[in-house]
Amino acid sequence: MRQGQLYINGKFVNSTSRKTFISLNPATAKPFGIYQAGNKSDVDSAVQAAKKALPSWKKAPAPKRAEILFEISRLLKKNKERLAKTMVLEMGKVLKECKGDVQEAIDIFEYMAGEGRRLFGHTTPSELKNKFCMSIRMPVGVVGLITPWNFPIAIPAWKLAPALICGNTCVWKPSSDTPGCAVELIKIIKQAGLPKGIVNLVTGSANEVGNPIVKHQDIRGISFTGSVETGKFITANAGLKKIGLELGGKNAIIAMDDADLDLALDGIIWGAFGTTGQRCTAASRVIVHKKIKKELEEKLVKKTEKLRLGSGLKETTDIGPLINKSALEKSEYYTALGKKQKARLLCGGKAIEGAGFFFKPTVFSQVKPNMKIAQEEIFGPIVSLITVKNLSEAIKVCNGIQYGLSSAIYTNNIKNAMIAIEEIEAGITYVNSSTIGAEVHLPFGGVKNTGHGREAGPEGINEFSEIKTIYIDYSGKLQKAQSIDLGRRES
Ligand code: UN1
Repeated sequence: MRQGQLYINGKFVNSTSRKTFISLNPATAKPFGIYQAGNKSDVDSAVQAAKKALPSWKKAPAPKRAEILFEISRLLKKNKERLAKTMVLEMGKVLKECKGDVQEAIDIFEYMAGEGRRLFGHTTPSELKNKFCMSIRMPVGVVGLITPWNFPIAIPAWKLAPALICGNTCVWKPSSDTPGCAVELIKIIKQAGLPKGIVNLVTGSANEVGNPIVKHQDIRGISFTGSVETGKFITANAGLKKIGLELGGKNAIIAMDDADLDLALDGIIWGAFGTTGQRCTAASRVIVHKKIKKELEEKLVKKTEKLRLGSGLKETTDIGPLINKSALEKSEYYTALGKKQKARLLCGGKAIEGAGFFFKPTVFSQVKPNMKIAQEEIFGPIVSLITVKNLSEAIKVCNGIQYGLSSAIYTNNIKNAMIAIEEIEAGITYVNSSTIGAEVHLPFGGVKNTGHGREAGPEGINEFSEIKTIYIDYSGKLQKAQSIDLGRRES
């Protein structure tokens, strides 16, 4: 069994709690590794270390900080295969998706390293003569990063890379389902030569570790990816910290009657069942035009039934297990609810007997937009088909949820595509492509209850920097802004 420790002030250490917890392999339900159950005093030590490391890290020129990010990116690339295999064993998704996850981390470290030579502010003319105006970026300070298990290397990298390039120091709490992946990423960061105290890892529960991070007086910013419930807790308890939240979605694919149907089907299968449906961006609703409903349903069921479940390490596997027992129970719960509310179960709908948390890919049709299975985030391989008569109804249904993360429309009509782009309330809209598959040089995030802030892309640095405005007056006299007496000496 693997083992891992906390990483505080450049050292791997045990928790002062003297407690540990076990992370499971979801394909076998057997232990994967044993990790430290951190507590408030560990968080305090991590924050102290981060505070101490802040002045010199913040002072280092950003292009110098970038050198370490490039090195992290290089080491991730070198260890990609090994990291991806660790990920399969700890969180279950198939090997090629795990490689994609590590690739995303490689890319974001590289991209944010490039940011080290930009970190743009702006300059603008002053109202007054002999006065120069500009804005520059300052780090936020010590930041708390709280990350989920579904992209156990990529999502932490989305936060660590911009945090580091902007000159912040970090206290990171990963999900308790994937502490092993977190420890592996930390080892790479250490090997890349990042000085002590700049990144600190505290594994453990939401109560014992997450809570003290959120409330800590010396932490100035929180970046969180996870549930709406936790997002609300953070908002209520973080005081006046700068907060970035990505809280999931109930993303829809709109399939119009003029769509390339086979293309749409490929997008639906990939969006709904990739990562076993455990993505914030997963396509959990398909809003289908009534003219193509029958054909789409038939073809979708055929394709879905062909998908092979199994260990993510096997080449032939299409879908891995769900992350844990409660995720499996959640999929069972929503299936029962769907049936009870009179949606029609077309295929799947049950767990697979035996070890591991496998649930059959599931398609419901005749779903009404306000049913719970069409409103709530399931985070499992369940997709709901909703039939509509035209685009305006499709968009109304698409928007009729609390979330606003991703969305997609399949159509060959440019007018439909443009209307969807304009009217869908979401942070991301794909045209003729599924709801998943973000690229790191574009902003990622959502609206409504999905939260606020954008990760990745040029906007990714906003969460981790504060803007400072600078006025330099070289007139040698008292000049007053808002003077109506332009340029003339005031007496
Ligand atoms: C998430 O599930 O929290 O675009 C993010 C995508 C992934 C991001 C998923 N790269 O689907």
